[in-house]
Amino acid sequence: MAPSRSARTRIVVLVSGNGSNLQAVLDACADGRLPADVVAVVSNRSGAYALERAATAGVPSVQVGKHDDESRRDYDARLADIVAGFAPDLVVLAGWMRILTSDFLGWFPDRVINLHPARPGELPGTNAIERAWHEAMAGERTVTGVMVHLVPDEGVDDGPVLATDDVPIRPDDTLETLEARIHAVEHRLLVDTIAGLCREPSTR
Ligand code: GRF
Repeated sequence: MAPSRSARTRIVVLVSGNGSNLQAVLDACADGRLPADVVAVVSNRSGAYALERAATAGVPSVQVGKHDDESRRDYDARLADIVAGFAPDLVVLAGWMRILTSDFLGWFPDRVINLHPARPGELPGTNAIERAWHEAMAGERTVTGVMVHLVPDEGVDDGPVLATDDVPIRPDDTLETLEARIHAVEHRLLVDTIAGLCREPSTR
Protein backbone atom coordinates (compact mmCIF):
# COMPACT_ATOMS: atom_id res chain seq x y z
CA MET A 1 0.00 0.00 0.00
CA ALA A 2 1.08 3.59 -0.47
CA PRO A 3 2.41 5.51 2.52
CA SER A 4 -0.28 6.96 4.72
CA ARG A 5 -0.15 10.56 5.87
CA SER A 6 -1.65 9.69 9.23
CA ALA A 7 -1.27 6.93 11.80
CA ARG A 8 -4.66 5.54 10.88
CA THR A 9 -5.31 3.74 7.62
CA ARG A 10 -7.89 5.43 5.40
CA ILE A 11 -10.30 2.91 3.92
CA VAL A 12 -12.86 3.38 1.16
CA VAL A 13 -15.35 0.49 0.97
CA LEU A 14 -17.11 -0.28 -2.32
CA VAL A 15 -20.47 -2.02 -1.95
CA SER A 16 -23.51 -3.05 -3.96
CA GLY A 17 -25.92 -4.51 -1.42
CA ASN A 18 -26.50 -5.48 2.19
CA GLY A 19 -23.13 -4.41 3.58
CA SER A 20 -22.72 -6.87 6.46
CA ASN A 21 -18.99 -6.95 5.73
CA LEU A 22 -18.90 -3.16 5.66
CA GLN A 23 -20.56 -3.31 9.09
CA ALA A 24 -17.85 -5.66 10.36
CA VAL A 25 -15.17 -3.18 9.26
CA LEU A 26 -17.06 -0.19 10.69
CA ASP A 27 -17.45 -2.00 14.03
CA ALA A 28 -13.77 -2.95 14.13
CA CYS A 29 -12.73 0.65 13.43
CA ALA A 30 -15.09 1.93 16.13
CA ASP A 31 -14.05 -0.51 18.87
CA GLY A 32 -10.30 -0.18 18.27
CA ARG A 33 -9.56 -3.54 16.64
CA LEU A 34 -8.53 -1.67 13.49
CA PRO A 35 -6.25 1.39 13.56
CA ALA A 36 -8.25 2.62 10.60
CA ASP A 37 -11.19 4.74 9.52
CA VAL A 38 -13.74 4.10 6.81
CA VAL A 39 -13.55 7.52 5.18
CA ALA A 40 -16.20 6.79 2.53
CA VAL A 41 -18.63 4.16 1.30
CA VAL A 42 -19.29 4.04 -2.43
CA SER A 43 -22.18 2.07 -3.89
CA ASN A 44 -23.06 1.51 -7.53
CA ARG A 45 -26.68 0.82 -6.48
CA SER A 46 -28.99 3.46 -5.06
CA GLY A 47 -31.03 1.17 -2.81
CA ALA A 48 -28.11 -0.64 -1.21
CA TYR A 49 -28.72 -1.17 2.52
CA ALA A 50 -24.98 -0.59 2.98
CA LEU A 51 -25.68 3.11 2.38
CA GLU A 52 -27.93 3.15 5.46
CA ARG A 53 -25.19 1.45 7.47
CA ALA A 54 -22.78 4.20 6.40
CA ALA A 55 -25.26 6.89 7.41
CA THR A 56 -25.81 5.29 10.81
CA ALA A 57 -22.04 5.22 11.36
CA GLY A 58 -21.71 8.85 10.26
CA VAL A 59 -19.53 7.93 7.29
CA PRO A 60 -19.90 9.85 4.01
CA SER A 61 -21.38 7.80 1.21
CA VAL A 62 -21.70 8.28 -2.50
CA GLN A 63 -23.88 6.48 -5.00
CA VAL A 64 -22.11 6.20 -8.34
CA GLY A 65 -24.30 4.43 -10.87
CA LYS A 66 -23.17 3.71 -14.39
CA HIS A 67 -25.02 5.78 -16.97
CA ASP A 68 -26.62 3.83 -19.82
CA ASP A 69 -24.59 5.64 -22.46
CA GLU A 70 -21.33 5.44 -20.50
CA SER A 71 -18.59 2.97 -21.42
CA ARG A 72 -17.10 0.70 -18.75
CA ARG A 73 -13.81 2.53 -19.10
CA ASP A 74 -15.40 5.94 -18.66
CA TYR A 75 -17.41 4.74 -15.68
CA ASP A 76 -14.32 3.25 -14.03
CA ALA A 77 -12.32 6.44 -14.62
CA ARG A 78 -15.13 8.51 -13.09
CA LEU A 79 -15.37 6.11 -10.16
CA ALA A 80 -11.59 6.26 -9.64
CA ASP A 81 -11.68 10.03 -9.59
CA ILE A 82 -14.36 10.00 -6.89
CA VAL A 83 -12.63 7.33 -4.78
CA ALA A 84 -9.23 9.06 -5.13
CA GLY A 85 -10.85 12.21 -3.75
CA PHE A 86 -11.06 10.44 -0.39
CA ALA A 87 -7.28 9.71 -0.46
CA PRO A 88 -7.59 6.04 0.53
CA ASP A 89 -4.69 3.90 1.70
CA LEU A 90 -6.87 0.88 1.03
CA VAL A 91 -9.89 0.21 -1.19
CA VAL A 92 -12.02 -2.70 0.01
CA LEU A 93 -14.46 -4.44 -2.34
CA ALA A 94 -17.06 -5.86 0.06
CA GLY A 95 -19.92 -7.22 -1.98
CA TRP A 96 -19.07 -4.95 -4.93
CA MET A 97 -20.78 -6.55 -7.91
CA ARG A 98 -18.89 -5.02 -10.82
CA ILE A 99 -15.65 -6.11 -12.47
CA LEU A 100 -13.20 -3.22 -12.34
CA THR A 101 -10.95 -2.42 -15.27
CA SER A 102 -7.43 -1.01 -15.25
CA ASP A 103 -9.03 2.42 -15.65
CA PHE A 104 -9.92 2.10 -11.98
CA LEU A 105 -7.28 -0.33 -10.69
CA GLY A 106 -4.39 1.62 -12.23
CA TRP A 107 -5.08 4.43 -9.77
CA PHE A 108 -4.67 2.23 -6.69
CA PRO A 109 -1.86 -0.27 -7.32
CA ASP A 110 -1.58 -2.90 -4.53
CA ARG A 111 -4.31 -1.09 -2.65
CA VAL A 112 -7.50 -2.84 -3.80
CA ILE A 113 -8.64 -5.99 -1.97
CA ASN A 114 -11.66 -8.19 -2.62
CA LEU A 115 -13.60 -10.64 -0.50
CA HIS A 116 -14.98 -13.80 -2.10
CA PRO A 117 -17.08 -16.51 -0.43
CA ALA A 118 -15.10 -19.46 -1.80
CA ARG A 119 -11.62 -20.95 -1.63
CA PRO A 120 -8.86 -19.66 -3.96
CA GLY A 121 -9.41 -20.83 -7.51
CA GLU A 122 -12.93 -22.11 -6.81
CA LEU A 123 -16.39 -20.83 -7.78
CA PRO A 124 -15.50 -17.41 -9.22
CA GLY A 125 -18.39 -15.06 -9.95
CA THR A 126 -21.81 -14.62 -8.39
CA ASN A 127 -23.80 -17.03 -6.19
CA ALA A 128 -20.68 -18.89 -5.05
CA ILE A 129 -22.29 -20.00 -1.77
CA GLU A 130 -25.37 -21.33 -3.53
CA ARG A 131 -23.27 -23.18 -6.08
CA ALA A 132 -21.11 -24.72 -3.34
CA TRP A 133 -24.24 -25.83 -1.46
CA HIS A 134 -25.77 -27.42 -4.59
CA GLU A 135 -22.50 -29.26 -5.27
CA ALA A 136 -22.49 -30.51 -1.68
CA MET A 137 -26.09 -31.71 -1.91
CA ALA A 138 -25.10 -33.60 -5.08
CA GLY A 139 -22.28 -35.30 -3.18
CA GLU A 140 -19.58 -33.45 -5.10
CA ARG A 141 -18.15 -31.29 -2.32
CA THR A 142 -17.74 -31.31 1.46
CA VAL A 143 -15.95 -28.02 1.99
CA THR A 144 -15.99 -24.49 0.69
CA GLY A 145 -14.45 -21.35 2.15
CA VAL A 146 -13.64 -17.68 2.07
CA MET A 147 -10.73 -15.71 0.68
CA VAL A 148 -9.42 -12.16 0.67
CA HIS A 149 -7.15 -11.28 -2.22
CA LEU A 150 -5.46 -8.39 -3.93
CA VAL A 151 -7.09 -7.21 -7.16
CA PRO A 152 -4.27 -6.50 -9.63
CA ASP A 153 -6.33 -6.82 -12.81
CA GLU A 154 -9.69 -7.77 -14.30
CA GLY A 155 -9.46 -11.42 -13.22
CA VAL A 156 -12.74 -12.38 -11.54
CA ASP A 157 -12.26 -13.30 -7.87
CA ASP A 158 -8.61 -13.96 -8.68
CA GLY A 159 -5.35 -12.40 -7.54
CA PRO A 160 -2.66 -12.83 -4.87
CA VAL A 161 -4.30 -14.42 -1.84
CA LEU A 162 -3.94 -12.51 1.43
CA ALA A 163 -5.99 -14.84 3.61
CA THR A 164 -8.24 -17.86 3.25
CA ASP A 165 -10.21 -20.13 5.52
CA ASP A 166 -12.11 -23.35 4.91
CA VAL A 167 -15.77 -23.76 5.81
CA PRO A 168 -16.96 -27.38 6.03
CA ILE A 169 -20.39 -28.09 4.57
CA ARG A 170 -22.46 -30.22 6.94
CA PRO A 171 -24.82 -32.90 5.61
CA ASP A 172 -27.74 -31.15 7.31
CA ASP A 173 -26.81 -27.66 6.09
CA THR A 174 -29.52 -25.66 4.38
CA LEU A 175 -28.43 -22.87 2.07
CA GLU A 176 -29.34 -20.46 4.86
CA THR A 177 -27.24 -22.16 7.56
CA LEU A 178 -24.26 -22.41 5.21
CA GLU A 179 -24.61 -18.75 4.23
CA ALA A 180 -24.73 -17.70 7.88
CA ARG A 181 -21.55 -19.63 8.71
CA ILE A 182 -19.70 -18.32 5.66
CA HIS A 183 -20.68 -14.73 6.40
CA ALA A 184 -19.44 -15.09 9.99
CA VAL A 185 -16.07 -16.31 8.65
CA GLU A 186 -15.99 -13.48 6.10
CA HIS A 187 -16.53 -10.84 8.77
CA ARG A 188 -13.64 -12.18 10.85
CA LEU A 189 -11.26 -12.85 7.94
CA LEU A 190 -11.81 -9.44 6.35
CA VAL A 191 -11.13 -7.56 9.58
CA ASP A 192 -8.07 -9.72 10.39
CA THR A 193 -6.66 -9.18 6.89
CA ILE A 194 -7.13 -5.43 7.05
CA ALA A 195 -5.50 -5.44 10.51
CA GLY A 196 -2.47 -7.16 9.00
CA LEU A 197 -2.27 -4.61 6.19
CA CYS A 198 -2.51 -1.75 8.69
CA ARG A 199 0.52 -3.20 10.52
CA GLU A 200 2.67 -3.43 7.37
CA PRO A 201 5.62 -1.00 7.69
CA SER A 202 5.01 0.19 4.14
CA THR A 203 1.60 1.55 5.13
CA ARG A 204 2.98 3.94 7.72
C1 GRF B 1 -20.26 -11.54 0.50
O1 GRF B 1 -20.54 -12.91 0.57
C2 GRF B 1 -19.03 -11.29 -0.33
O2 GRF B 1 -18.05 -12.26 -0.18
C3 GRF B 1 -19.58 -11.32 -1.73
O3 GRF B 1 -20.81 -10.65 -1.62
C4 GRF B 1 -21.33 -10.80 -0.29
C5 GRF B 1 -21.61 -9.44 0.26
O4 GRF B 1 -22.27 -9.49 1.50
N1 GRF B 1 -18.66 -10.75 -2.66
P1 GRF B 1 -22.51 -8.15 2.31
O5 GRF B 1 -23.10 -7.13 1.35
O6 GRF B 1 -21.19 -7.69 2.85
O7 GRF B 1 -23.47 -8.51 3.40
